[in-house]
Amino acid sequence: MSAPRQNWQSKLGFILAASGSAIGLGNIVFFSSNAYQYGGGAFYVPYFVALFVLGMPIMMVEFGIGTLTQKSFPMALSRLAGRRGEFVGWWSIGSALFITMYYIAILGWALGMMIGAFGSLFEPGVSAPFAPFAEPTPEPNATVYFFNLISTWNPLVYIIIIWLVNLFILRQGTHTIEKAVRIFVPLMWLFMVILAIRGLTLPGGFDGVMYLFTPAMDGIKEPTVWKGAFSQMFFSLSLGLGTMTAYASYLPKDADQVNNSMLVSFLNCSFEFLAGLAIFSLLFVFALNPAGTTLSLSFFVIPQGINELSAVPWIVRLFGFLFYLLVVLAGITSSISLIEAPASALIDKFRISRRRALALIAIPCVVGSCLFALPQIIDPGLSGDGTLGLTLLDITDHWVFNYSLLTVGFLEVLMIGWVFGAGKLRAALNENAHIKLGGWFEVLIRYLLPVILLVVIVTSLMQEWPLYGSTYDMPGYGWLTIFIPVFWLAFTLLFALYITRAKTKEA
Ligand code: PHE
Repeated sequence: MSAPRQNWQSKLGFILAASGSAIGLGNIVFFSSNAYQYGGGAFYVPYFVALFVLGMPIMMVEFGIGTLTQKSFPMALSRLAGRRGEFVGWWSIGSALFITMYYIAILGWALGMMIGAFGSLFEPGVSAPFAPFAEPTPEPNATVYFFNLISTWNPLVYIIIIWLVNLFILRQGTHTIEKAVRIFVPLMWLFMVILAIRGLTLPGGFDGVMYLFTPAMDGIKEPTVWKGAFSQMFFSLSLGLGTMTAYASYLPKDADQVNNSMLVSFLNCSFEFLAGLAIFSLLFVFALNPAGTTLSLSFFVIPQGINELSAVPWIVRLFGFLFYLLVVLAGITSSISLIEAPASALIDKFRISRRRALALIAIPCVVGSCLFALPQIIDPGLSGDGTLGLTLLDITDHWVFNYSLLTVGFLEVLMIGWVFGAGKLRAALNENAHIKLGGWFEVLIRYLLPVILLVVIVTSLMQEWPLYGSTYDMPGYGWLTIFIPVFWLAFTLLFALYITRAKTKEA
């Protein structure tokens, strides 16, 4: 006989866990660099449209199907939309595994930087110019520090530590997750508030904020800005990978998921807003240019800003340490949810123990995370990405981050809108909701969202072809730009097919 389904101890526990899942690297690392890349204020209009039209409603869907069926994502879709639904669910779980692998690799590097904050990483007064790795400057410098770090095998140890912490937190499911998020989530808010206050009180800090938050209309015509804002919103709200449904399935059936979705989205976007304040003020005051890959911002541009914060070494080190501690805490409350999605799905489908499910996930994924940290230098000129691991990560992120989440979102609204019926979901949500959803919800799920998502996916894919790949300079490894997307698609689709066809073990 299998154990009864676990439950959150309290509504607060659920909100902390779900908002902890949402708030993560996406809010700190990806948001700022996407916002910068897509033109600061120009990003804002698509971003807000994405929040209200896409993010909140899809969160209502994902929360809603979790409480309605009391099942994780693939099994919930299976119950509501049959085999095709289940296939979509497992496909998204396959992508969640990829994201988990590189998400944890990034956290491993952040842990390395956090430890480095005690050493030479933060030397006050050193203005760190962007020095190519091939000619390291004699002075300590965050860029050189980071590349020295990732070109050694040390990150593998950090990655394993992060994996162990994740598994430890997940060992008893909601019970242990709740204990961790009660400590981690308030702490990360506190640290972010401290950093934002510090940034804003710097002379000139406000200009960065103006750059980021003055809406500009010129981005509206660009499909890539929309794709950027949509994928950012999906990733930031933890949608399209089954995590929110898994978490919601541990709530009682009468939970108000309209309210919960608004609350979690609001918490997530407020945190993102604070992170924007903190980071953009630093960038402007010290005239730093966050160009380069997504990760360059957090791993060497922000440290340069932190270097300048004070002439007193221990204050600089403290801020540096706080920043990376914040990244690690926020990241762990997200990575546990990334692992919980496949774990709960496997438990629901095959009725295996939690331990076994976690082992099945962790063994291959630890290997994957380590691949993303391979230190071999393939681009000494640094016009591309430097090490093999970082390049693999960058290419994987490009495809999975941008396309998998949006595609799952597209298929998910088709399944719920057309196969299950948007009306039925709306009725189920409204049964326990204080604020009732109107008929617009059905129009959105059935017509508007599938069309918008399809247009965004297709137009940005079309822009991709002539250019993609030419941005990487990596002699001998050019084939990776084709191999990785093909491998990801083949793996996730076959995985989904295989598991969907396997027999579901009934309780
Ligand atoms: N939302 C998390 C972040 O912003 C990442 C994440 C995505 C976590 C999807 C779980 C599922 O970092």
